[in-house]
Parts: sequence; structure tokens; C-alpha cells
Amino acid sequence: MAISGTIFIIFTLVFIHGLTICSSQTNSSSSVKCIDRERIALSKFRKSLTDDSGRLSSWIGQECCSWKGITCSNKTGHVLKLNLHNPTPFDNDRFYNSQDGEYMAYYSKSCLAGELNPALLDLKQLQFLDLSMNNFSGSEIPKFFGSFKNLKHLNLSVARFQGNVPPHIGNLSRLEVLDLSNFWTNRLSSESLHWVSSLSYLKHLDLSGVSLGRAKNWLDSVNGLPFLTKLNLSNTLVATIPSLTRRPNFTSLVSLDLQWNIITSEIPHWLFNLSNLVEFRLDGNGIRGPIPETFGRLTNLTVLGLSRNYFNTSVPDSLFNLRNLTYLDLSQNKLQGTISNAIVNLCNLKFLDLTDNRFTGKIPDFGINQNDCLQDLDVLGFLQFVERSNLSFVRTLSSLRELDISNNIVNGSIPSSFGQLSNLEKLELSNNSLSGMVTELHFSKMLKLTELSMSLNNLLVFNVSSEWIPPFQLKTIKLNSCTLGPLFPSWLKTQENVVELRISRTGISDRLPDWFEKVYSRVHYLDISKNNISGELPQFEEANNRPFRRLILNSNSFDGSLRPLPSDVLLWDVSNNFVSGNIPIQNGTNLTLEVLILSSNLLSGFFPGFLCEIKTMTILDLANNQFTGKLPDCIGEIENLSMLDLTNNTLHGEIPNSLGNLPLLSLHLHNNNFQGQLPSLENAMFLNILDVGKNSFTGVIPPWIGENQQYLAFLSLQSNNFHGEITEKLCQVPQLQLLNLARNNLTGNIPPCIGNFSAMITDHSSIEYLMLDVDYGGSIPGIINGIERRYTKTMPFLTSIDISDNSIVGEIPDNLTGLVGLRNLNLAGNNLTGRIQENWRYARINFPGFVEK
Ligand SMILES: *[C@@H]1O[C@H](CO)[C@@H](O)[C@H](O)[C@H]1NC(C)=O
Ligand SMILES: *[C@@H]1O[C@H](CO)[C@@H](O)[C@H](O)[C@H]1NC(C)=O
Ligand SMILES: *[C@@H]1O[C@H](CO)[C@@H](O)[C@H](O)[C@H]1NC(C)=O
Ligand SMILES: *[C@@H]1O[C@H](CO)[C@@H](O)[C@H](O)[C@H]1NC(C)=O
Ligand SMILES: *[C@@H]1O[C@H](CO)[C@@H](O)[C@H](O)[C@H]1NC(C)=O
Ligand SMILES: *[C@@H]1O[C@H](CO)[C@@H](O)[C@H](O)[C@H]1NC(C)=O
Ligand SMILES: *[C@@H]1O[C@H](CO)[C@@H](O)[C@H](O)[C@H]1NC(C)=O
Ligand SMILES: *[C@@H]1O[C@H](CO)[C@@H](O)[C@H](O)[C@H]1NC(C)=O
Ligand SMILES: *[C@@H]1O[C@H](CO)[C@@H](O)[C@H](O)[C@H]1NC(C)=O
Ligand SMILES: *[C@@H]1O[C@H](CO)[C@@H](O)[C@H](O)[C@H]1NC(C)=O
Ligand SMILES: *[C@@H]1O[C@H](CO)[C@@H](O)[C@H](O)[C@H]1NC(C)=O
Ligand SMILES: *[C@@H]1O[C@H](CO)[C@@H](O)[C@H](O)[C@H]1NC(C)=O
Repeated sequence: MAISGTIFIIFTLVFIHGLTICSSQTNSSSSVKCIDRERIALSKFRKSLTDDSGRLSSWIGQECCSWKGITCSNKTGHVLKLNLHNPTPFDNDRFYNSQDGEYMAYYSKSCLAGELNPALLDLKQLQFLDLSMNNFSGSEIPKFFGSFKNLKHLNLSVARFQGNVPPHIGNLSRLEVLDLSNFWTNRLSSESLHWVSSLSYLKHLDLSGVSLGRAKNWLDSVNGLPFLTKLNLSNTLVATIPSLTRRPNFTSLVSLDLQWNIITSEIPHWLFNLSNLVEFRLDGNGIRGPIPETFGRLTNLTVLGLSRNYFNTSVPDSLFNLRNLTYLDLSQNKLQGTISNAIVNLCNLKFLDLTDNRFTGKIPDFGINQNDCLQDLDVLGFLQFVERSNLSFVRTLSSLRELDISNNIVNGSIPSSFGQLSNLEKLELSNNSLSGMVTELHFSKMLKLTELSMSLNNLLVFNVSSEWIPPFQLKTIKLNSCTLGPLFPSWLKTQENVVELRISRTGISDRLPDWFEKVYSRVHYLDISKNNISGELPQFEEANNRPFRRLILNSNSFDGSLRPLPSDVLLWDVSNNFVSGNIPIQNGTNLTLEVLILSSNLLSGFFPGFLCEIKTMTILDLANNQFTGKLPDCIGEIENLSMLDLTNNTLHGEIPNSLGNLPLLSLHLHNNNFQGQLPSLENAMFLNILDVGKNSFTGVIPPWIGENQQYLAFLSLQSNNFHGEITEKLCQVPQLQLLNLARNNLTGNIPPCIGNFSAMITDHSSIEYLMLDVDYGGSIPGIINGIERRYTKTMPFLTSIDISDNSIVGEIPDNLTGLVGLRNLNLAGNNLTGRIQENWRYARINFPGFVEK
């Protein structure tokens, strides 16, 4: 019974289903709207395209009107719209900045590519054509696009066209919307916008990213467009906003975007006649001078962006009458004066950014407002308010989503009412003078907070319970120089999405907890340096799609041994700990390491050959360890190496000649047992520091020094077995400011040309005398790729000549005293005669071997 029932139901279903199919087929075949000629055209068009993701797979059968992306006229059956924009939107940031591989592949696959077949012209009634976000890989915009007589809407944005925009587009006399925007590429260009002036129905024109550097007449061309409401010429290399002798014609303009150009001319007066303007962006140009008072006339403005220019007056009060403003960005200018409290009249603001200017006075008191004002303020940024302010004003800004008050002189404690900012996502208070306790109350309702930054408030102390479970899940934590310790903050255990953790110099003196490795092994940026954290180094995992990964653990008390590195780490700094043992061998060819700093540990063993496989490496610092053995020949294969520091190890043997292949900027071999001759480094044209002191090098002073090295500033050959004379070649190094030849077997005279060192002629006496008594050993300081290195502050002022303890004879050259910038001169332990002039004010002179005549 049950079985036959089931069969019956299946049969019925099949039957009904069959009927449906049948009727729908009859129904459609009798009513195909699609016009044969147009279907054929579309099929040809499709054939010359490539469609890796099968977006056009519905383009089969007779009824082209039901194909994806196609809309026909209900009356005539003509194709009216062809909408083939890429359904995966192009995300500039994920594509270019973060190089998100997965996204890039997915996006690329969903692009249509290939040829654009002119058969498309058979769509005689076409009104709408959208090919945006696809990949026509560098082909030109086809001229035949100018022949769609009925086209009203043409969107070719981010479709990777290049070359000149064909003026034929100007024949599309019914066009209302034209979008050729191109993000940041400037691959498309147009020599003149003359063609635009015939598009008299145009409402929206977007040419952002198209190079208009030569289209000087752009204003005349757009000024004739009576219906134009939206004009976007951002990032087009426009250099001026020309002036007009009469009122502008395109007064219907509502939105004008001129961001990211190279405009340096003043804002012309005619612009303030565009009284319908609602949105005006001029950010990222080079405009100097005042912000015109006349902005106050544009009362309909809701968006005003003037950031990243050189506006240098005070902010005119008239801006604060623009009551409709929701977005005001004045950041990164040279604006001065105080910000009037009238700014609180801007009740509708959602975004306010004043950061990076030269404002003085106090942060305006937003707190004085009635409750219905500034309710929706989302983002608030300030910077450089010189007078001390406090944070009480924040109390009424309940909808704040971002708050940036970094780099001010805000003092006092953080009011606990902060905890009520339940919409806050980003809190940036770094580099102020905040003090007092930060407690759980300060965060009580911050459920949405993802970025917390309070770095560089040295008096801020976190006082939260070890049981605290914060209401938020942070992505970014920046608390450098606050006090978090002495115990390792256990609330960090609850934060499972952290990409960036910076808690350097926070007074932690504790073992690294076990959970750290589990929660933070994929972190993208880690800085826990300058604490007293002990225990073994954590093992980090690959964190795919996170380029520029930096892991900074220096100056702690880590012990145990090193572990293999994930291949995506760019910077690894564990210097100044107690890590011992060998560097673990791993496959170097797939590492992307650029900076490796292992100095000042207890590491030992040979220089591992796999380091030579890391072609990306630019900085390698193994100083102050116990490495032994020879430098391998393969060192010359680290083809990008610019800094090599092996100071203070027990390496020996000859330096491989291959070292001379490297583009070195600084080389430190101080205090090892290297011997033989120095290989020629004449290819290292930008060599700045060469320190081979305290080894057993032999030979004469290398003649290549002074040939190509125009940038050599620090040269130490101290405490080796160099012999021969100090050659005139040495005087040809124009930037030399430190020359140390002490304790060698040098003979002969001091060449008089030694008075030529121009870097020592400059008088630095106006600069504070920082540190002279450096026993010049260890590494010479330097800032390379932004990495802070030893003695960095003193480096530019260190000027010294030391040729003590050699066998130099003869007269001290008279003109040595011309080196008024010289701070240290040591000629002791030679057999010199002569006199040093008394008027030599600055140098500390040491030459007991000196015999006065
Ligand atoms: C299609 O068929 C259905 C019923 O099978 C009918 O109601 C409808 O009117 C038909 N449509 C056309 C356009 O013929
Ligand atoms: C055609 O008809 C359909 C259904 O009646 C309707 O949804 C659609 O908007 C019409 N299309 C045009 C272009 O008029
Ligand atoms: C576009 O196509 C070209 C040529 O096939 C290719 O080299 C390029 O990577 C593609 N770009 C994107 C974003 O897919
Ligand atoms: C602007 O309008 C005036 C008067 O209507 C006209 O003479 C002039 O040609 C127009 N300018 C442009 C560029 O179209
Ligand atoms: C502001 O815009 C409205 C409507 O968009 C318009 O009627 C009004 O004239 C504009 N204001 C000014 C001062 O032009
Ligand atoms: C703000 O804009 C509205 C239209 O959105 C307009 O009516 C009003 O006049 C504007 N306010 C001011 C102060 O201009
Ligand atoms: C190292 O990695 C590269 C690239 O991933 C691979 O080709 C090579 O075989 C590996 N070498 C060893 C010894 O595993
Ligand atoms: C790098 O090579 C090692 C060993 O050959 C392998 O285990 C690891 O998965 C590779 N990493 C990547 C990202 O290819
Ligand atoms: C050299 O390294 C040893 C430890 O190996 C350390 O004690 C010493 O201070 C270092 N010397 C310099 C000048 O850094
Ligand atoms: C350098 O001088 C010392 C002592 O005068 C001597 O023992 C040594 O052999 C000399 N070295 C060379 C390379 O001339
Ligand atoms: C020192 O004397 C040398 C050689 O006579 C000369 O080339 C140089 O210009 C002089 N330098 C100074 C600072 O007088
Ligand atoms: C120093 O030179 C003088 C002659 O210029 C010589 O008489 C004397 O012996 C030398 N002294 C030493 C220690 O070499």
C-alpha cells in the first residue's frame, strides 16, 4: 500500500513537471522577443570574449532577451541594455596594497577579457552599456563605441583600457552618464576634452584616473554642459583650475571632485557661484594660501575635503555656518590659529578631521552642545593643539565611531565616561600626556572597539583585573610605553583576532604565558620589545595573505633556542636576549625575510649556508654572538644585502671575494679573527660605513677606497696589520667624517690633502655636542631602512681622525686645522713633529708623541 502510494506520487510529479516544461516551451517559442540579427551579434560578441568563470553560460538558445546581462524592449524586442560589469567588485586596496592573493585570483578569474567585437553595433537601440571592472588588458577603447547613436549610459570604469580616449565618444549625443574612471593608473589619457563639449545631455562625467595633463581647456569643455551635476576629475594630473571671465554656465553642478591632482593655483572665484554644490573635494593637491572666506556662500555643501594641501591661514569662521556639512576634512595642511567654538554649530557632522596642522589653543569644547547636536559624529580627529586640553568634551558625542586625538598635549586622566562610547570602533590617543589609571570601566560598553591605541603616554597605567574579559575583540593594540606590567596582561588572551600587537616598553617582567603562542602565532605585526619577558621564544605560524609581517622581540630575557621561521616574515628581531645554540637550518628559498637581527645573544655555530638562499634579505645582523668558522663563498648570492654586521664574533679566515658583488651600504666585521686581504668592494657604490677593525687583515690600505665610494662616511681599519703609506687616494672620499687607522703598521707622512675632508670642514658647533668619547668599537651607528641602530643620535656629529699607534713620521700638515668640524684627533704613538694652531676650538686632541719645536 505504502509502496504503490509512493509510486503514484512520483508519477504525478513527473507528469506535472513534464507538463510544465512542455507548456513553458510552447509558451516561450511562440513569444521569442529577441531579434535574430541582434542575437547573432551578441553571439559573435561573446565568441571573441574569454569568460573564465562562465558568467555568460546562460547565453544559449533563441531568447537572447533572457540571457544574463541583457534587457530588451518589451515592445520591440530590441536589446536596450547590456550590463556585463564584473560581479566581483574591484578592490584597489586588496589588489595592490595588501596583495591579497586569494582575492586577486578570484577577481581575475571573474573578469571578461579578450576582444570587443564590432558586431555589437547591430544592437541599434542600445541605450546602456556597462563593461566595468573587466580586463581588456591594455587594449584601446574601440572607436566604434562612438557609433551607438542611442547610448545614454556608458560605463567602462576599471576595465583596463589604455591609450587615448577616442574623441569619437563625442558623437554619443544622447549620453547622460559617462564613466571612464580608472583608479590610480593613468593608463588612459585625453589630450583635449573638446569632444566632451558635444555631449550636451551629460549629467555625470567621471574621468578619475584618466591623464588630462595636456587637456588645458578642460574647463571650457565641461562648462558648456547645462545638465552636468556630477564631475569627477580626481587623479587626472590636472594642474590648474582655470579662471573664467564670466559666471560659469554649469551651475547645476552638485558634485565636483578634484582630489589627488597637482593643482597649485588658488581656488578661483567663479567656483563660489556654483551654488548648488553639495560635494566639493580638493584633497591631495598643492594649494597654498588661505582657505577662502567665500566657502561660506556654498550653503548647500555637505561634503568638503581640503586635506593634504598647504593651506596656511586660520580656518575662516564662515565654514562653521555651513550647517549642512556632514563631512569636513582639513587634515594635513599648515592651518594655524585657534579653532573657534563655533565649530560646534556643525550639528550634522559625521566626519571631522583636523589632524596634522599647526593649530594652537584648546580642542573645541564639543561638550557645551545641546543633546540633539553632533549626535551622529562618527569620526573625529585632531592634532597639534598646543594648549593643554582634557578629554571631558567627549562625553556627549555618543555616536562616535572613531576618535583620533593622537599627538596632542592632552593631559589628565581619561574620564571613565569613555566607557559609554558604545559605537566606538577606533580609539587613537597615542602620544599625549595622559596619566592615571585605565580600568575596566573605561571600556565597559565598547563592544565594537577594534583599534585601541594609547602608545606614548608614559604615565598611563593599566589597572585591570587578571580575570577581566573585555567586551571587545581588538584587531589592533598599540600600547607602547604605557604601564601594563609587571605581570603579562592576561586579558590579551581573550583577543583572538589581533593583527597588530605593540606593547613595547610596558614594564612587563614575567614569563611569556603558554597561551601566547596559541593566540598570537599568526599575528602580523608584533612588538613586545624592551620588556623583561622570559621563557622560550614562541613558535610562529604562517599567516598567509599578510605581507610585510614584522616580529620584534628584542631586549627581553628570552632564552632557549631559535626555531624555524614561517616563510612570510619580513622582519625578525630577537636581538639582545639570551638565546643560544645554532641558527636552525631551514629552506631559505621560500623565505621572504628582508631583515634578520639576531645580535647580542649567545648564538654559536657556523654561518648557516641557507641564509645565502634568502634573496630578499637586505639587513643581516649577527653581531655580539659567538659565531665561529669562515664566511661561506655563497654570501655573494644574497643579492640585495645592504647591511651586514658580524661585529664581535669569533669568525676567521679570508673574506670571500663574492662579498664585493653585494650592494652594501654598511659592512661591520669589527672584532673577529678575519685575515688576509680585504676583497675589493668597489662595486658597492653607495657604501657608507666600513668597519673592519680589530681583525688580522694585511696588505696596504685598499686602493679602491676613494675610487667609487662617493658616500663613504665612516672608515675604520683600526687594529689590523695594514702597512704602507696613507695614500692621497683616501683624501678623495668627499663625505668622510670618521677615519680610524689606529694600531696598524702604517708608515710615511700624513698627506697634506688630509685637510680636504669636506665633511669635517663643516662646523657643527651650533649642534649640541652629544657624545664624543665613544670608544669607536662595535658597530658604527646608522639608520638603515628605518631600523634604529646603536648610537643613532650621535652619528651625524661624529667627526674623528685617529691614526695613533702607527709609525707615521714627519710634520703634522699645517692645514689640518682647517677641519673646524673635527671633534677628535688622535695622533699619539707616532713620531710626528709640528704645531697645532691655538685657535682650534673644538677638537679634543690627543698626541703625546707630539714634539714641540
Ligand atoms: C504562457 O502560458 C501561460 C499558461 O500556460 C499563459 O497563462 C500565458 O498567458 C502565456 N503567455 C504568453 C505570453 O503567451
Ligand atoms: C518588461 O516587462 C516586465 C514584465 O512585465 C517588466 O518587469 C519590465 O520592467 C519591462 N521592461 C521594460 C524595459 O519595460
Ligand atoms: C589582465 O590580463 C592580462 C593579460 O592577460 C594579465 O597579464 C593581467 O594579469 C590581467 N589582470 C588582471 C587584474 O586580471
Ligand atoms: C555660457 O553661456 C553663455 C550665455 O548663455 C554662452 O554665450 C557661452 O557660449 C556659454 N559658454 C560655454 C562654454 O558654453
Ligand atoms: C540648495 O539646494 C536646493 C535644492 O537642492 C536649492 O533649491 C537651493 O537653491 C540651494 N541653495 C542655494 C543657496 O543655492
Ligand atoms: C540644507 O539643505 C537643505 C536641503 O537638503 C536646504 O533646504 C537647507 O536650506 C540647507 N541648509 C542651509 C543652512 O543652507
Ligand atoms: C626549498 O623550497 C623550494 C621552493 O619552495 C623548493 O623548490 C626546493 O625543493 C626546497 N628545497 C628543499 C631542500 O626542500
Ligand atoms: C617552504 O619550504 C618548506 C620546506 O621545503 C616547506 O615545509 C614550507 O611549506 C614551504 N613554505 C611555503 C610557503 O611554500
Ligand atoms: C662582545 O660580545 C660579548 C659577548 O659575546 C659582550 O660581552 C661584549 O660586550 C661585546 N662587545 C661589544 C663591544 O659589544
Ligand atoms: C707589524 O708590526 C709588528 C710589530 O712591529 C710586527 O710584529 C708585524 O710583523 C708587522 N706586520 C706586518 C704585516 O708587517
Ligand atoms: C691642505 O693642503 C692641500 C695640499 O696642499 C690642499 O690641497 C688643501 O686644499 C688644503 N686644505 C685646506 C683645508 O687648506
Ligand atoms: C723619531 O724621529 C726622529 C727623527 O725625525 C728620530 O731621531 C727618532 O729616533 C725617532 N723616534 C722613534 C721612536 O722612532
